Amino acid sequence: MNAIALGEGRAHKILNAWAKATTSKDVEKVIRSVAVREGEHALAFEKRMWELGYGLREREDPNFKKALKIAKSDISDRKKFEKLSLGGANSNGDGTDFLGGIFADKNIDIETGALFGRYISEERDSGRLLSGCYKALKADNKKQKKAKKKK
Ligand SMILES: [Fe+2]
Repeated sequence: MNAIALGEGRAHKILNAWAKATTSKDVEKVIRSVAVREGEHALAFEKRMWELGYGLREREDPNFKKALKIAKSDISDRKKFEKLSLGGANSNGDGTDFLGGIFADKNIDIETGALFGRYISEERDSGRLLSGCYKALKADNKKQKKAKKKK
């Protein structure tokens, strides 16, 4: 839970920076909706940890600064997906993720289990939103390249 809370909090900051930087309203809509979810997940998991008697243990992520810089930069949204490995960019496409393994722990209490269930469902939906957005950007890019060739 600690790793999820920290990871989601960082993703929230990265995606918020990207949402501010993009010039596309469509991309902003997707990135901002996922950013809000990530921020809420960070707080929901931190809250649950406090309820269970543990605080959040801060741990540095050596990749965070670099990812934030990419998100804020003026490179294209399509390239951001690739550089940040989001929306299925750089994945092997076998559809597996680490999320299913969370329920391997059979001692999970009901409230924490419910939180994980919602978290997993939202993460997968966010994955679908991001992948749809990345595919649309790739298709746009192809169209632009074709149009350039015709000129
Ligand atoms: Fe996430």
